[in-house]
Amino acid sequence: MRHDVTLRVNGVVNRHTVESRQLLVHHLRETLGLTGTHVGCDTSNCGACTVLLDGVAVKSCTVFTVAADGGEVLTVEGLAQDGQLTPVQEGFRQCHGLQCGYCTPGMVVSATGLLLDRPDPSPEEIREGLEGNLCRCTGYQMIVESVRWAADHGGPGAVAEAHR
Ligand code: FES
Ligand code: FES
Repeated sequence: MRHDVTLRVNGVVNRHTVESRQLLVHHLRETLGLTGTHVGCDTSNCGACTVLLDGVAVKSCTVFTVAADGGEVLTVEGLAQDGQLTPVQEGFRQCHGLQCGYCTPGMVVSATGLLLDRPDPSPEEIREGLEGNLCRCTGYQMIVESVRWAADHGGPGAVAEAHR
């Protein structure tokens, strides 16, 4: 069965007809070409596919595209504006919060969602907030420091605030 779906993705309204079984991550990557949202598992465990849906961090491999109809999606591609990194992105750069980078889009988006909810998180709260995101490289400490850096330097950023 097919459905007409309207989504605002990174500020742009898109209308498509999609299969009812299609997952949002596949819509973003394959229909819209937004391949910054990664697929790292088929068990809903890794968090590499995390996007903000109406201001809330969700694993886009767990959401049917039709279920997001009418929603506002922010992917990692929508964060930086005019080449200006958000505080979270800059924090990952400053604090070496990535190595291979595969988990990083999901980490950055999850951290952005965390800071929308909790602007001044403790290291423990950051670890708890990112527990749905797996990283095989960094050992997490530098990711925690990256998010703390962002909290001290502007929080989630203007684009994410606008998606609240
Ligand atoms: Fe791993 Fe979505 S792809 S949680
Ligand atoms: Fe390689 Fe996280 S930086 S998986």
